[in-house]
Amino acid sequence: MKSSSRAVMAVGVPLFCLLTVVAATLVVSGWGQPRAVAAAAETEPKVPFGLPPVFFPEDNPYSAAKVELGRLLYFDKRLSTDNTVSCASCHSPSKGYTDGAPVSTGIKGQKGGRSAPTVINRAYSTRQFWDGRAPSLEAQAVGPIANPIEMTNLKSEKAAHGAVVARLKKIEGYRKRFVKVFGTANFTIDHVGKAIATFERTVLSGNSPYDRYVNGDKSALNASQTRGFNVFFKKAACDSCHLGFNFTDGSFENIGIGMDKPKPDLGRFVVTGKASDKGSFKTPTLREIEHTGPYMHDGRFKTLEEVVDHYDKGGIKNPNLDARLKPLKLTNQDKKDLVAFLKALSGEGWQHIKAPKSFPK
Ligand code: HEC
Ligand code: HEC
Repeated sequence: MKSSSRAVMAVGVPLFCLLTVVAATLVVSGWGQPRAVAAAAETEPKVPFGLPPVFFPEDNPYSAAKVELGRLLYFDKRLSTDNTVSCASCHSPSKGYTDGAPVSTGIKGQKGGRSAPTVINRAYSTRQFWDGRAPSLEAQAVGPIANPIEMTNLKSEKAAHGAVVARLKKIEGYRKRFVKVFGTANFTIDHVGKAIATFERTVLSGNSPYDRYVNGDKSALNASQTRGFNVFFKKAACDSCHLGFNFTDGSFENIGIGMDKPKPDLGRFVVTGKASDKGSFKTPTLREIEHTGPYMHDGRFKTLEEVVDHYDKGGIKNPNLDARLKPLKLTNQDKKDLVAFLKALSGEGWQHIKAPKSFPK
């Protein structure tokens, strides 16, 4: 070491230490640091094997009490105008957090235009809905409450949200819980969204046979599923869109679904206005796929066999069809193996969550 740098160290180290002490004192005293005075964050729950940690946003951190409040709200039909519909009506634990129907039914039996996607592993995406129009789970969660087909008969979003918050404020059991979780009895629709989103971040699926297989347990997949693994990743290259641990990168692609209708749902185009987005929809996760049919944004396919046939044919022709959709020339055995592999993406992490036995009064 040169003497000049030793001199820098001699001055630098104590100076650094001094600064650290000053900084630490400022943090401890809470100077300009509201977060430092807040109670220590609770330990976030462990995620199932094969999944990365869940990201809880800084302005909506995890707490067990918040998850419980979110669970109550998620299953509570009093979030709808006529007390008939809850989030769980369309995203039910018994149906892999979907509703098992091609399109969903809201209050008064009204049918929507799209199929209900699963809530499982939504924690790992920001953009929500088939067209990605909601930027977060928090923003998404307050959407259905103001959707005149789904949960309200009020025309404006403000009125619908106001009515739900007013109803919840009249229920003492909820008031107490909002005070405990958010420190205010004067809560807003944003607090409702935050609680539901936090609950949703605990609805996970991992530790599937696939996860165990790729982590070294070669017996986790049977012979057909092992062949299907190769069809998925090589011959059919499904992972060019369904990639990563959650089998999606959240990108919007056109595989032709709906483009054969006289007035197609234009999907992502409605959000961006870009002509090249016409007919693009969000690539969904494939985890728990055997439990979340019927498939695609319009629920047109009842079975995974029909889905595989769609890809084998090269999708549905339209001007924006993704170039990766080409006839795959799969054999009957390839198709069977591919479906068997898709069923190896069913795991655990969501089955233990049950509907509450009673609700706040
Ligand atoms: C009447 C049926 C219905 C109700 C009630 C309902 N949803 Fe949905 N949900 C849907 C449909 C249909 C979509 C897809 C709509 C779209 O993409 O335009 C959806 C989309 C979602 C998504 C986005 C998933 C993804 O893959 O992007 C989440 C998350 C979600 N709902 C959670 C909730 C929550 C939380 C509630 C309660 C506050 C709720 N839903 C109430 C039918 C419903
Ligand atoms: C070019 C990107 C792309 C490729 C390649 C691709 N997918 Fe998809 N996949 C999508 C998109 C986008 C959707 C949703 C389309 C819609 O509903 O309009 C989808 C939907 C699905 C669904 C239905 C999911 C649900 O929840 O309804 C399954 C199952 C599926 N794909 C499996 C596969 C398999 C198996 C392959 C390989 C043979 C494959 N995908 C190749 C983009 C792709």
